[in-house]
Amino acid sequence: MKALILAGGKGTRLKPITNTIAKQLLPVANKPILFYVMDQIAEAGIKDIGIVISPETGANIQEAVRDGSQWACEVTYILQDQPLGLAHAVVTAREFLGDSPFLMFLGDNLIQGGVGDFVKHFDIQSPEALILLKEVLDPRLFGVAELNERHEVVHLVEKPKEPKTNLALVGIYLFTPRIHEAIAGIKPSWRGELEITDAIQGLLDAGREVRSHILSGWWLDTGKKDDLLEANRVVLDDLLQRNICGYCDGDSQLLGRVNVCNGSRIENSVIRGPVSIGRNCSIRNSFIGPFTSVGTGTTVEDSWVQNSVILEHSVISRIDRLEDSLIGKGVHLRKSDDRFKSIKLFVGCDSTLEL
Ligand code: DAU
Repeated sequence: MKALILAGGKGTRLKPITNTIAKQLLPVANKPILFYVMDQIAEAGIKDIGIVISPETGANIQEAVRDGSQWACEVTYILQDQPLGLAHAVVTAREFLGDSPFLMFLGDNLIQGGVGDFVKHFDIQSPEALILLKEVLDPRLFGVAELNERHEVVHLVEKPKEPKTNLALVGIYLFTPRIHEAIAGIKPSWRGELEITDAIQGLLDAGREVRSHILSGWWLDTGKKDDLLEANRVVLDDLLQRNICGYCDGDSQLLGRVNVCNGSRIENSVIRGPVSIGRNCSIRNSFIGPFTSVGTGTTVEDSWVQNSVILEHSVISRIDRLEDSLIGKGVHLRKSDDRFKSIKLFVGCDSTLEL
């Protein structure tokens, strides 16, 4: 069994932050989303991993994942010239995949509990495809599955205007090499992409067995700002352990599940977990509230921050109330005018905002 991670695409829905960072490298609880994906694949016992990258952000991804030895895996990078669809990414990876069955994992998706059990079921039951489904509030944003009364998949549609069910296709799939024939039989969709959803429908049309499993745990698709904040919230809530490695002075309080990494200093501040503070941060005269992640080398002074993700090397100064915000790398956010109280921001990297 091989694994194919799709980490290409343009990250359009997360611009401007994705102008400088691959969306799969955005951090959730101070760890790139792609690293959770690598963890889950390695935990499932798959050692041979192909990563589809784009010309724009491929170097970024290669720098972060390197040769995969951190996960005791072997990584092959596959360049997809243009984001022409998930099935197009599979075509691009054809040489790497050979005739092996494979786990396909979208590099911006995360699920609770990993993929080990699905890989085992796929090995034992050997259908042509195993897909994961999850009930969602707005199925129009996803591929959608229709099941019959025996819970068998009968129909799949990509982003339907009028969905027949609320069962979305999760971005994790298991395939036999039969999927390559199905892909050869599809045409680009209305959005100009070769859709993997159409290829799986092709398997169904050809009478091949497609099994499904409805997830009960969380599924995070980090495609937009609010999705990323939600992913940060869920992962901090579920996985964060209290661990204080940095320095905390006697005037500060660290309440609940707070993780402070090496080299960070907390002075005259209250931190109410779950909160993750990266390495070499400085938090002074501030309140950091639940569901916040502060990236390496960031300073927060005389400020109040909650439910936010702040990337590396930023400075947040004199902000009365910063919440529900996604702040890029190297951002300087300072208040010099008292009219601004509560603010909600989505700021790209290397910006300076004086409020
Ligand atoms: O997240 C689940 C959804 O993912 C499914 O419900 C849909 O059926 C499926 O089509 C897909 O929809 P999205 O529109 O969300 O896919 P997106 O364009 O965001 O791409 C998903 C990942 O694959 C992302 O990490 C970028 C990468 N990608 C995407 C394209 C189009 C590639 O590597 N190459 C590509 O050509």
